[in-house]
Amino acid sequence: MFIRLSSFAFALTTVAMAANAADPLQGLKASDIPQADPAIVELGKMLFFDPRLSGDASTACSDCHDPKFGWGDGSELARGYPGTMHWRNSQTLVNMGFMTGGFHWDSGLASLSDQVHDAMGAGFVANIDTVLGEERLRQIPEYEQQFKAIWGEGPTQAKIAESIAAFERSIVSVDSPFDLYMAGKTNAMSTSALRGMDLFNGKANCSSCHHGSTLTDQDFHNTSVPPSIGLFEDPLRQVTFRYLMRVKGLAPEVYQGLDRDPGRYLATQDPDDLGQFRTPPLRYLKYTAPYMHNGVFYTLDEVVEFYNIGGTPDAFGTKSPLIKPLGLSRAEKGDLVAFLESMSGSEILVSVPELPKYGLQDFPKSGVKITAASLKAGLASAPKTPAATGTAASGGLLLKPVDPAPANGLIMTPRDAAIESSFKPNTFNELTDRKMVTLGEDTFVLVKKGDTLGSLAKALYGDERQFRKLFAANRDHLKRSSDLKVGTLLRIPE
Ligand code: HEC
Ligand code: HEC
Repeated sequence: MFIRLSSFAFALTTVAMAANAADPLQGLKASDIPQADPAIVELGKMLFFDPRLSGDASTACSDCHDPKFGWGDGSELARGYPGTMHWRNSQTLVNMGFMTGGFHWDSGLASLSDQVHDAMGAGFVANIDTVLGEERLRQIPEYEQQFKAIWGEGPTQAKIAESIAAFERSIVSVDSPFDLYMAGKTNAMSTSALRGMDLFNGKANCSSCHHGSTLTDQDFHNTSVPPSIGLFEDPLRQVTFRYLMRVKGLAPEVYQGLDRDPGRYLATQDPDDLGQFRTPPLRYLKYTAPYMHNGVFYTLDEVVEFYNIGGTPDAFGTKSPLIKPLGLSRAEKGDLVAFLESMSGSEILVSVPELPKYGLQDFPKSGVKITAASLKAGLASAPKTPAATGTAASGGLLLKPVDPAPANGLIMTPRDAAIESSFKPNTFNELTDRKMVTLGEDTFVLVKKGDTLGSLAKALYGDERQFRKLFAANRDHLKRSSDLKVGTLLRIPE
């Protein structure tokens, strides 16, 4: 079923809701996150789906966080930026707004905005240079306008990240049977799920790590999840895995000796953190298989069986003492699975937004003409809108050569900003093989080497005797027809 995201639009600040060990299970309410401006959420949504925010314009956030796969990617290990493969399971983005930090399986990132910077910059995720990303968006008029309207400035990396983060906070699931039950709807959960909840809090001891309203202590544990086979079946995953470990500064003997993900150790390099991962929140599990940091378990039955046997032999010597055989009966395991299932609400699907197209810009964007003279004069002192040198009322030429006139090139001093903005530099008259310039109502031709009034009249009107017409229209700066200078503009009368 469809849930309209805009009705769950949320603010830019996370709410302090981190659970502590004493926290009992709680339901979530959408109102726990204040509303964000729907325009920001909408902008963030477009950026989230836009592959142009990756180096080769191939990989959007949504490629690895696809609404159709529970906002993950449905595989054990994620794909990667072309030429790489990721070595971890792509996490769901549902309910990220309720988390107070510690993003990623190893919790290496403090905020959703930081996470966006990280994902965009990482060579194996989106692999895009910040400046390139900003300039791409600036070349898309709709984005440029939206950023200006919302943020008061054109696209910047910081605002890109904030917009995407606002969209992520709008992806909220609070309608699970468990949440409804917690909100007082006593018949929302089945009796089996209710028995499962008792086991979760009691005999199975799950709530010692999965508790509070988010079902996570946002802390780290080694639960002894078995290593991924996929990691060692794919050379590209091995490359990416070793690459990151090197980048993080792990010594060669360490990263070459690791046959599994070192988890939190990557972020801290504290030996006690080997194999530890952030406790994941447990909502929306119905849509997010396979499970765990490496996607080794495809069903919740497997997960429960894994905990029931007390995990696997530990590779790192850091296994949590809380993971031990539980002795659950077949029926109890079924009840525990029913409880886990009761924490999923309706599926959150969104329509893929239509993405705005690239456009062409008029130059100069800054209003400053770049010439040797203007650069020498110091750009800072160059007027944004150069002073007028003539007026239409007096019939004067709009453009005049700047002194000293260069041998080549288009030098002009437009009269006002209105004219400036109507400057279309790239018109090319194929018939006359000459560059034409339109300013407001007037059209000009660029004088080339060898041009005379006669040759131009011939090119323009097919009759060199029309030179008088050209001369008359440019009388204000042409005293004699031989005054014609290369690189200046000649007004063409209608
Ligand atoms: C190539 C696949 C890929 C792309 C592209 C990608 N991600 Fe991810 N994402 C992942 C993987 C894999 C993880 C887990 C990473 C880890 O633990 O090291 C992840 C983790 C996250 C998390 C942390 C979730 C949590 O529970 O802590 C967030 C938030 C996130 N991604 C958002 C984004 C955004 C926003 C973008 C676009 C800017 C993006 N991702 C692009 C694969 C991807
Ligand atoms: C010691 C703390 C701890 C205890 C106790 C614990 N968990 Fe976990 N749980 C974690 C951590 C950490 C992970 C992630 C492990 C990984 O990916 O390597 C996890 C992962 C999961 C996942 C996979 C979620 C996902 O998005 O992939 C499920 C489901 C789960 N636990 C359910 C349970 C249940 C049910 C119990 C009780 C039987 C339980 N947990 C007990 C810490 C704990």
